[in-house]
Amino acid sequence: IDIKSLRSDTKGVVTLDPGYKNTGACESAITFLDGEKGILRYRGYAIEELAEKAHFLEVCYLLIFGELPTKTQLEKFHTDIKAQSHVDEDVKRILDGFPKAAHPMGVLSSLTSALVAFNPSSVNVDSEEDMYKAIVKILGKFPVLTAWTYRKRMGLPLDYGGDSLGYVDNFLKMMFKKPSGEYTTNETVLEALDKLLILHADHEQNCSTSTVRIVGSSHAGLFVSISAGIAALWGPLHGGANQAVIEMLEAIKEDGGDTKKFMAKAKDKDDPFRLMGFGHRVYKNFDPRAKIIKKAADDVLENLGIEDEILDIAKALEKEALEDPYFVDRKLYPNVDFYSGIIYRALGIPVEMFTPMFALGRLPGWIAQWREMRLNKEPIGRPRQIYTGETLRSFVSVEKR
Ligand code: ACO
Repeated sequence: IDIKSLRSDTKGVVTLDPGYKNTGACESAITFLDGEKGILRYRGYAIEELAEKAHFLEVCYLLIFGELPTKTQLEKFHTDIKAQSHVDEDVKRILDGFPKAAHPMGVLSSLTSALVAFNPSSVNVDSEEDMYKAIVKILGKFPVLTAWTYRKRMGLPLDYGGDSLGYVDNFLKMMFKKPSGEYTTNETVLEALDKLLILHADHEQNCSTSTVRIVGSSHAGLFVSISAGIAALWGPLHGGANQAVIEMLEAIKEDGGDTKKFMAKAKDKDDPFRLMGFGHRVYKNFDPRAKIIKKAADDVLENLGIEDEILDIAKALEKEALEDPYFVDRKLYPNVDFYSGIIYRALGIPVEMFTPMFALGRLPGWIAQWREMRLNKEPIGRPRQIYTGETLRSFVSVEKR
């Protein structure tokens, strides 16, 4: 078979694969995932080792540029990001225009798109140097937009943390600094958030990442591609699951804590209810991130001295599901989002901000995948279809219909 001619002319042959369950859209050297064995690696490094030993900014660099940075490279990267972290004052006015109760994911997607208006040079990136400039800009500005979206909801003043803090610590400061200016780093909170961000940083061709690649493949700029990725992540079947999990656990608690009743609902095919935080398109054994997060949730609650009934309900659900033939047969295991919300809650992050936190973590993955797509000079993404509509019909004027 002449692959090249197949690529340019399908000769009427189209593969139909709804949901792209078996279709690869690209070659990628970023993330390795074996769903049967529960393996996840970024650029060859095991997720377990990165979560334990690395910091989020190092992982950003690793994902985007392919190697762990030297100390000098890391310092330069951080300095370049900090230099680009200010956003135009008009962006504040756009933020002010949103209703206070607007969902933060919608606000974030819009603001990220709006950044293009203030940074037009970020769109046409033909050299690696131009790409680098766009990358440090979005890495600098996105945490600011995320923290501001939260503070706007809370009616708190907006500002930019401080220059001396690390990337994640500075984000926490922007989020939680008291109106008096007071902020103290809590090491437990910082460590837990760093770990969560690393665990969310990339996951090969998931829904939002594929969206970023496909939007970017038309040579739309990095910022709008990421804005589209944020929109894709918002849905409850993807990143929005972390919010949906906590809402589900709360509902079970409110209802008296009968987990069996909700298990039965999840198995009932006439009931649209699904056990949120369970199941994964690729992991059919276990989600390695969920294992790490479950342990981190235990540690964080213990270190912060928090007792959360919701964690007990989550553990009961997991135990029942692991013994239930419905879940076992369909290989449905807790995914990354099953326990992440419990940690976010313990860190004082409100439930509507859970998915924006996921977006903050996934940002380097989106960037890395967009950069790889551009450097590989991939063609525009354009799936085919099988047409199932009417055959040729004659037009009938409105009077005669
Ligand atoms: N609760 C109950 N049943 C489920 C669940 C669930 N959470 N997930 C899948 N199933 C069932 C389906 O009803 C289907 O049953 P059937 O074979 O009898 O029809 C079977 O398991 C296969 O499910 P699909 O929806 O075909 O699997 P798919 O790979 O398309 O979907 C998804 C994966 C979207 C993650 C799904 O498992 C789900 O909706 N989970 C809940 C939402 C969630 O947690 N999403 C986060 C995913 S991780 C992430 O994006 C970060």
